[in-house]
Amino acid sequence: MDGNGRWARLQGLPREVGHERGADSVRTVVRASRELGVEALTLFAFSAQNWDRPPHEVYHLMELLRRYLIEERGEILDNDIRLVTVGETHRLPAYVREPMLDLVAASADNRAMVLCLALSYGGREMITDAVRKIARQVAAGALDPESIDGKVIEAHLDSSRILPPRPPDPHQRRAPDLDFLPVEAAYAELFFTETLWPDFAREHLLAALDDFARRERRFGLTLNNTDETARPEQGGDPAEEG
Ligand code: IPE
Ligand code: MG
Repeated sequence: MDGNGRWARLQGLPREVGHERGADSVRTVVRASRELGVEALTLFAFSAQNWDRPPHEVYHLMELLRRYLIEERGEILDNDIRLVTVGETHRLPAYVREPMLDLVAASADNRAMVLCLALSYGGREMITDAVRKIARQVAAGALDPESIDGKVIEAHLDSSRILPPRPPDPHQRRAPDLDFLPVEAAYAELFFTETLWPDFAREHLLAALDDFARRERRFGLTLNNTDETARPEQGGDPAEEG
């Protein structure tokens, strides 16, 4: 999600109003995704770098997050949506962490859609965390360094709780500065939009899904050998073909 601040500036309003409108877009897009049969939706709600914004803006974003988790609880549960998170959620204040953990637990058995919130998320931070976990296992003698492959790495990323490993699709962003799911995004289809997040509505989601549906996916192979049987498992060797 990006562009809340620019949206507000264009309207001559404070950034906070942009974030509030952005929260409305989250509701719209989650609802539309569920209706359209999207299996998993990951929203980059707050980056590890966002903590360095002015304290009043960070506080307002935390308040909005708390409000979202409390107000949407019923709809998320009623719609069989499972909430998961990626990121350094231990850094969140307790008044956000508590309703978040409550909803993660309450929705754990839901199956219709996964809603993943990236909170205090940073791509490099997540890679660092995964490497540290793997290194600990190697140091403890529980893992042979030679057995480390793409699958082992993916299994140690927070995102392994979203769905079985594969590219998150489509992968949307307003501008081409990405620090989002950098490992998982290998072979993902990217879609860039000029729409500021507070203006992002069901029709924009539909346009992105439509664009995605038209793409020819080869996963580094040629057109001839990309039928279902030849299609590589994510994290498998064919990804090395480039
Ligand atoms: C996205 O909008 C919301 C968060 C990062 C939480 P921005 O706040 O990044 O808006 P711009 O980039 O200033 O327009
Ligand atoms: Mg931004």
